[in-house]
Amino acid sequence: MRVAVVGQGYVGVTGAVSFARQGHQVCGIEQDADRLRPLALGRAPVEEPGLQQELALAVETGRLRFTESLACAHARQPFDVVVIAVGTPPQEDGSADLSQVRTVLSEVATLLPALYVVLKSTVPPGTSEMLLAEHPTMRPRYAYNPEFLNQGSALDDWAAPSRIVAGVCSEPVIGMLRELYGLVACPWVVTTPTSAEMAKYVSNTFLAVKISFSNEVARLCTTPEVNIDDVLCAAGADPRIGSAFLQPGLGFGDSCLPKDTAALQRWAAARDIATPVLDAVIAVNRAQPRRVLEALREELGDELAQAEVAVLGARYEPWSDDMRAAPSLSVIPELVTETAAVRVWEPAMDSGRLEQLFPGVRACPDMRSALRGARAVVVLTEWPQIIEADWGGLATELAGPAVIVDGKNCLQPGQMAGLPVTYRSTGNRVPAHISDSSTSSAPTP
Ligand SMILES: NC(=O)c1ccc[n+]([C@@H]2O[C@H](COP(=O)([O-])OP(=O)(O)OC[C@H]3O[C@@H](n4cnc5c(N)ncnc54)[C@H](O)[C@@H]3O)[C@@H](O)[C@H]2O)c1
Repeated sequence: MRVAVVGQGYVGVTGAVSFARQGHQVCGIEQDADRLRPLALGRAPVEEPGLQQELALAVETGRLRFTESLACAHARQPFDVVVIAVGTPPQEDGSADLSQVRTVLSEVATLLPALYVVLKSTVPPGTSEMLLAEHPTMRPRYAYNPEFLNQGSALDDWAAPSRIVAGVCSEPVIGMLRELYGLVACPWVVTTPTSAEMAKYVSNTFLAVKISFSNEVARLCTTPEVNIDDVLCAAGADPRIGSAFLQPGLGFGDSCLPKDTAALQRWAAARDIATPVLDAVIAVNRAQPRRVLEALREELGDELAQAEVAVLGARYEPWSDDMRAAPSLSVIPELVTETAAVRVWEPAMDSGRLEQLFPGVRACPDMRSALRGARAVVVLTEWPQIIEADWGGLATELAGPAVIVDGKNCLQPGQMAGLPVTYRSTGNRVPAHISDSSTSSAPTP
């Protein structure tokens, strides 16, 4: 098939590459010159494992190219289907901004009736019906097909999705979608566009529930006799619960869960539908980054204002450059306001970008120089270099008695227990001594 993918962000560019890998002839459409420029040279505009290599290969084999204008590309050689993956960012009140989707659909409407239209952007329930009322000729060839990929494993998720949800108004569209996805084998849920839209919000909200619930559990697990890691491991081993997203820490700070939970909350409020669970999930999440400063206040009291603080990591995830809702964006400015000095080590950002993103901090080229003389350490990203560091050696650089606040619960608890520092995690992680020999884990004969 000849496929246009409009919007070359995290979803669009990984989708364009994946459709090209399926054997389709793909054209990525991007209006932002800063994203289009690298694409034209065969370079990925966003960070995603494996993307650069696969994109270069797809361009080299002639299956994938990029351009600015959908209409011009369609005029040269008509597309069979246009896949729309533009942004739906949050507005001030939390609701989804649909302006990018509206603009593309209006342009696509001028190219009808020749092609199929597949909307992948996350939109509130009822959006497709509202847009189809504005563009009725689109209805028989329209699908709402939400995307469920995880940043960090996007290409694998495109190749082997957990499910494909097809919100359609007519039968032939299902055949087109099956051809588009080709050999991908997974369960299909074929439903109405509005159900598909709701399914996307419900999925993201449930993942957010798991994270906020883990943070509430962590508040119940703070004494030495209880270990949050063991508790969540035991609970997550139940297949009815599952261990994914049972992650206490700074809360959800990727680009989707904060915006999608807020958008669903606004959507419900506009219809006078109460959402007590969702409200609590969002409230817990908003409070979570503030717990870094609370922990420092509890440990350092009045000395906090004179303390020098080392921040290790600024990204939400090591494998993604997406900073749109990263907890560091609120935690680091608070530290700058409340403490004497803040140095930041973030291996994926140069010092100029770091100091521009976080005014008032000093960017450090390595972990050791960031830690030198610091009274407190705050870990915001689970970089392997941080997890695998020789903390026994690094602790000697700190100005004692020092505090380590592990915002990601990623340092090794056994190692922390032996250090001359106060280690604070979200919930207790330091192993308690098991004294009863009958419960010790001696090898069984
Ligand atoms: N990022 C994720 O992990 C993820 C996962 C699942 C679903 N989603 C949803 O998918 C959608 C896209 O997400 P994203 O993270 O890729 O967004 P993004 O903001 O990174 O990318 C959107 C791109 O669309 C481009 N664009 C906007 N209007 C355009 C137009 N008229 N013509 C050409 N290009 C245009 C923008 O310049 C931008 O590069 C959102 O609705 C999001 O909620 C995202």
